[in-house]
Amino acid sequence: MANVVRDPKVHPDAIIPDLNTPDPAVTFTRNDIAFVYGSKWKQRYFTKVGDDYFPLPAQWDVTHKRWSRYFVANNTDWWVSRYPADNAQRPTGPLCDGCHSVDYNVQTKQVAEWNVGCEKCHGPGRDHAAAPARTNIFNPARVDPVHANDTCIQCHSQGQPRTNPIAGRYYDWPVGFRVGLNLSDFWSLEEHEPGKTTFTHFADGSAHKNRMQGNDFVQSLMYTRGVTCASCHDVHGTEHNADLRRPVGTVCLQCHGTGSPNGPHTRTIEQHTHHQAGSPGGECVACHMPKIAQEIGDVMVRSHTFKFIPPSTTETLKVPNACTACHAGKSNAWAAEALKSWPEFSPWRVGQ
Ligand code: HEC
Ligand code: HEC
Ligand code: HEC
Ligand code: HEC
Ligand code: HEC
Ligand code: HEC
Ligand code: HEC
Repeated sequence: MANVVRDPKVHPDAIIPDLNTPDPAVTFTRNDIAFVYGSKWKQRYFTKVGDDYFPLPAQWDVTHKRWSRYFVANNTDWWVSRYPADNAQRPTGPLCDGCHSVDYNVQTKQVAEWNVGCEKCHGPGRDHAAAPARTNIFNPARVDPVHANDTCIQCHSQGQPRTNPIAGRYYDWPVGFRVGLNLSDFWSLEEHEPGKTTFTHFADGSAHKNRMQGNDFVQSLMYTRGVTCASCHDVHGTEHNADLRRPVGTVCLQCHGTGSPNGPHTRTIEQHTHHQAGSPGGECVACHMPKIAQEIGDVMVRSHTFKFIPPSTTETLKVPNACTACHAGKSNAWAAEALKSWPEFSPWRVGQ
């Protein structure tokens, strides 16, 4: 995973936008920036006051190359009501740094290392470095799937610590958790209110915002069958987008195929997808991982429940479905009719 947090004095090229071009949202200068945060979807800027960092009031949308205001508004994140409505009084220690560093110490406010370092996923490495052995390092590949997935869910989820506040401060990350422990002893995943669209969830429980791959994935059949995040991703880096182990078009076929007990249960793949091989509508992710979770503005990331959201659910619960998101201009009724004519699928489940 890339270096999200960077000091612009050490890495002057870390700042993506040109700060010399005036913009009404930008009320700060390069000298105010102690840390630059992010590079793939969005970039935020922190200033240092005493031994705390605070977010500056503008963020850069990497996709559209534009500024927008950065201020977490009322009725969004759960912690907003616990902090004054002022970025300068919302330190990043309790609200961000636990997920963007290794071993953030809540007493000293020091970190062992910024960014997603090895020890965040492999535990303390000193003994292992001195005398490498399988027994003195945490390897997510050699533990049960729940603990393997917790390695990722500690950061890739929306939730709240079980004990909060801690020494008077409200934290937004699982304080005290280390790989190998039970994440659920430290962290509760954000609840969704069935039937309601909230800041975090769609009415069917699918993630509505970013950083919720964990909230999504634990709902899936694949999670219960022992598939892990690392089944599809290699976080040490690959040549594919999102560090996928294989290209997006074939990553599912490691375990799926017409001959596989895991399905799809049709004679050919095209019979399952009803789109030509090579068509954007024929990729597994097109229907099973629609881009519906908001990263910034209209930039969306993929759902990780892997379920197919039927067009009828768009009608009743306002959850976007893959068919009409891609077939812009077609109605939900059109998509439902098409699905009803595809005999492999139950009309009770997808065509109502
Ligand atoms: C974001 C979490 C994460 C980070 C950070 C991370 N790893 Fe890993 N590492 C994993 C996972 C998950 C596996 C198991 C992969 C699998 O299931 O095949 C793994 C496996 C490994 C293995 C292979 C062990 C074996 O059985 O062959 C080595 C070696 C390793 N990591 C070294 C490192 C080093 C060195 C760093 C830092 C530069 C690092 N890792 C950072 C998650 C991480
Ligand atoms: C310490 C917190 C932390 C942990 C633990 C962690 N991640 Fe991440 N992950 C991040 C951050 C922060 C980013 C954003 C990186 C960036 O901006 O380039 C990220 C990005 C990613 C991406 C997107 C990369 C891209 O280039 O699009 C994937 C995929 C991912 N993580 C998977 C995993 C998996 C799988 C695990 C567990 C093995 C894991 N992460 C564990 C914090 C974490
Ligand atoms: C519970 C863990 C967690 C907390 C708390 C957290 N983040 Fe993140 N952050 C992540 C993960 C995981 C990602 C990558 C996945 C994503 O963006 O959905 C990420 C991504 C980002 C990115 C985008 C990176 C890119 O390259 O586009 C920025 C910027 C960011 N975080 C800033 C913050 C700020 C500022 C705070 C505090 C207000 C914060 N984060 C709190 C885990 C966390
Ligand atoms: C069955 C395969 C699979 C599993 C399991 C899986 N992912 Fe993904 N993930 C993908 C695919 C496919 C993409 C989309 C890549 C693309 O669009 O190029 C993706 C994208 C992402 C991204 C980048 C954001 C986006 O949507 O482009 C992050 C972050 C991520 N996954 C994290 C995780 C985490 C954390 C877990 C476990 C909680 C996980 N994934 C489990 C297949 C998987
Ligand atoms: C590591 C193996 C593995 C990979 C990779 C994998 N799957 Fe699966 N998948 C499974 C298993 C195992 C099941 C459960 C099969 C069963 O028990 O019937 C499953 C089931 C499913 C189901 C049925 C879920 C349900 O609720 O009925 C869907 C849909 C699915 N996978 C989609 C995908 C997609 C999309 C990808 C690629 C992004 C993918 N899978 C990648 C192993 C995998
Ligand atoms: C990511 C984009 C994408 C998604 C998602 C998608 N399609 Fe398609 N669809 C296409 C493209 C491109 C074509 C034309 C080429 C082909 O047949 O593959 C097409 C063709 C079709 C056709 C035949 C031509 C027409 O317009 O009458 C039907 C019917 C159809 N899709 C229905 C659906 C339904 C129903 C869903 C949801 C289950 C769906 N599609 C999901 C991209 C998509
Ligand atoms: C055009 C949309 C579409 C595409 C593309 C698509 N699926 Fe599906 N898939 C569905 C629908 C619809 C269902 C039925 C959902 C339900 O019953 O809730 C389904 C169900 C499944 C199931 C469970 C039923 C079974 O037959 O085992 C699996 C597994 C699955 N898909 C895997 C895949 C894989 C793997 C790919 C890529 C090769 C893929 N799907 C591509 C629409 C699609």
